[in-house]
Amino acid sequence: MRILGIETSCDETAAAIVDGRRVVSQRIASQMQVHARFGGVVPEVASRRHVETVTRVVAGALADAGAAWGDLDGIAVTCGPGLLGALLVGVSAAKGLALVTGLPLVGVHHIAGHVAAAFIDTAITPPCLALVVSGGHTELLRVDPPFCLTKLGGTKDDAAGEAYDKVARMLGLPYPGGPEVDRLAQSGDPAAYAFPRALMEDEGFDFSYSGLKSAVHNEIAKQRQRGEEVNPADVCASFQQAVVDVLVEKTARAVIRTGLRTVVVAGGVAANQGLRRALTARAAADGFAVHFPPLALCTDNAAMIAVAGGLLLELGVRHPLSLNAEANLSL
Ligand code: KG4
Ligand code: ZN
Repeated sequence: MRILGIETSCDETAAAIVDGRRVVSQRIASQMQVHARFGGVVPEVASRRHVETVTRVVAGALADAGAAWGDLDGIAVTCGPGLLGALLVGVSAAKGLALVTGLPLVGVHHIAGHVAAAFIDTAITPPCLALVVSGGHTELLRVDPPFCLTKLGGTKDDAAGEAYDKVARMLGLPYPGGPEVDRLAQSGDPAAYAFPRALMEDEGFDFSYSGLKSAVHNEIAKQRQRGEEVNPADVCASFQQAVVDVLVEKTARAVIRTGLRTVVVAGGVAANQGLRRALTARAAADGFAVHFPPLALCTDNAAMIAVAGGLLLELGVRHPLSLNAEANLSL
């Protein structure tokens, strides 16, 4: 099935054409530079940018694929969760195109999209476990055939990526902070500070990052009060170790609890070097398989939405033109 995917849930305007699990073309217009000077995504600015860009991005993806509307089998769009105004732009565009072309329309949950990124150009099929770690989400899910997602646990407060961005801001690092913290962590001492590992003793699969964030904030404030020089590399390495320890431990426990021996990781934080190393090592030690999609498919993109949409269309899911965007869409 050839599917057009559209993704506008946050700060990327993206469109892609996929053929089953293969990406035929994809265009992504990032708004990162626009939001960087505000230190985070400004929802109203994001919506306006999507409006300006979405038509061009869709036309570009279609042209790159050398495809005409008649070559397609459906249109998939992220309908939630995300920034409401941003989501509405993609959903409106997709509905307009479905109306004009007569193609089937399918709304895709953003997290289902992140999970589907693992299926692109791989032979991985459900059942498996999925760890989705991004700026907006930290979720551990089981994925059952054919494509049924059940949440095992999630963050009770900040998402992992959000915690990275906030710690980066405390250290005066540029936005988005995740990659910067990751880079600095490589040269720091992960044992320099004993930051908390929240909910580690808890049997469940929930996560919490607000205590860790406060602990980092208090440590930096304490050192500055004493007139001491903060070593950013040590702070980053110790913070990253605390985040990674919990993610790896809970994922390994989920493998034991569910008996599922394949783990796919997705979301922007899947780019993290510390997480990649630690989870790969744990998988080798415990005897389960872990798959990290290529970086460009880990962060927000439309190919993952198109692949997820294709799977749903195959299952007979279709949405009417009354499809709406939902900021807090549940799985
Ligand atoms: O999936 P994504 O592109 O957008 C959301 O859906 O949120 O994820 C972006 C998040 C940001 O918080 C960013 O700081 C984080 O992923 N991130 C990283 C790394 N690269 C991106 N966090 C830690 N280490 C990285 N290397
Ligand atoms: Zn995302």
